[in-house]
Amino acid sequence: MSEPMHVDVDDWHQPLSLVQSPNTGLADGTPELVAGVRNTLIEHPAFASGITAIQRCHRMGRFGLEEPGCLLITGVAGSGKSTLRKEYARHYPRREADEGTEIPVLHLELPAQPTIKNVAERILLELGDPLFTRGSAEAMTSRIVTLFRNCRVELVMLDEFQHFIDNSSEKIEARVADWLKHLVNITKVPFVLMGLRRCHRILQSNEQLRRRFSRQIELKPFGNSDKRSRRIFDGLMRSIWTNLPVSPAPELVGDGDHLDRIHFATYGLMGYIMTLVSTSVEIVLNEKRPCIDQDVLSRAFVESIWPDACGHLNPFHPRFVCRPLTNDKEPFCGYAC
Ligand SMILES: Nc1ncnc2c1ncn2[C@@H]1O[C@H](COP(=O)(O)OP(=O)(O)OP(=O)(O)O)[C@@H](O)[C@H]1O
Ligand SMILES: [Mg+2]
Repeated sequence: MSEPMHVDVDDWHQPLSLVQSPNTGLADGTPELVAGVRNTLIEHPAFASGITAIQRCHRMGRFGLEEPGCLLITGVAGSGKSTLRKEYARHYPRREADEGTEIPVLHLELPAQPTIKNVAERILLELGDPLFTRGSAEAMTSRIVTLFRNCRVELVMLDEFQHFIDNSSEKIEARVADWLKHLVNITKVPFVLMGLRRCHRILQSNEQLRRRFSRQIELKPFGNSDKRSRRIFDGLMRSIWTNLPVSPAPELVGDGDHLDRIHFATYGLMGYIMTLVSTSVEIVLNEKRPCIDQDVLSRAFVESIWPDACGHLNPFHPRFVCRPLTNDKEPFCGYAC
């Protein structure tokens, strides 16, 4: 990806910062164009604040402080946590130096059903240890500490931290959480943990981990309920429309009613917004239609977000019920709490 354009992300008159995938524009087939839309990175305000928060954490990590400030980033599914992690890490790639591989930013997804051993294994694998499955938990931990030093690790980002709470029993993996605290202590490297909002419960139950992760931010969905949040959401949609390989119908751009419908259809979440838009682009290109209109959006919603959306439950239907789709069996059930 090329470097992003830097613009005032809080001003809807300006486009938000967009980074196109390298594929965009090189091929003219539908799959390439749709993939180009999916791979476009949007540096919206919450994304920019997330990058700044990680940067602050990272900078402090370079001073080898006894207790580096760590950060917890939470957000509902599709709010963009993993995108933030990958984009930050992309700017600090691993590099081969005379003394060996340097990994300034180590980042990974925690395994489902974590144990000390399988988490240590994942970290060792990412650090390039060929024997990542070998040894006791203690031996693995000490290899992690050595490799952090040798690879000059400055920041660690662990995604899917909610895996520390067992889905079915709700039991918190207290031993693994304690081990993680120990790892933060002995490596003296700042950690960024990321996951769903229930991650807070892990910190609530572990006061030592909580103290280390007292800095917390949430990647919130785009709002639509007050003037300022509508202005930002409108700015986001205008930027997206402007940068598509197909045009939106003129009535879609800057119209309050359509903005509301898109918000109901996506809950203001980047994941659903990009799914809705890229599926709409695909429909238009496949069917050689002139533009994205309400009918295209309605079909894209059913195809890619909620297959059961019948008539008045489809935000793009003329008689849509005009309420967030958060009831049981609806796409955003559980997102409001
Ligand atoms: N800043 C962004 N710019 C463009 N697209 C984005 C952005 N953030 C998220 N997306 C889109 O949303 C999709 C989901 O985002 P992501 O996987 O980062 O969410 P998440 O919060 O990690 O979700 P989960 O909790 O399910 O893992 C991405 O595949 C991407 O298409
Ligand atoms: Mg994720």
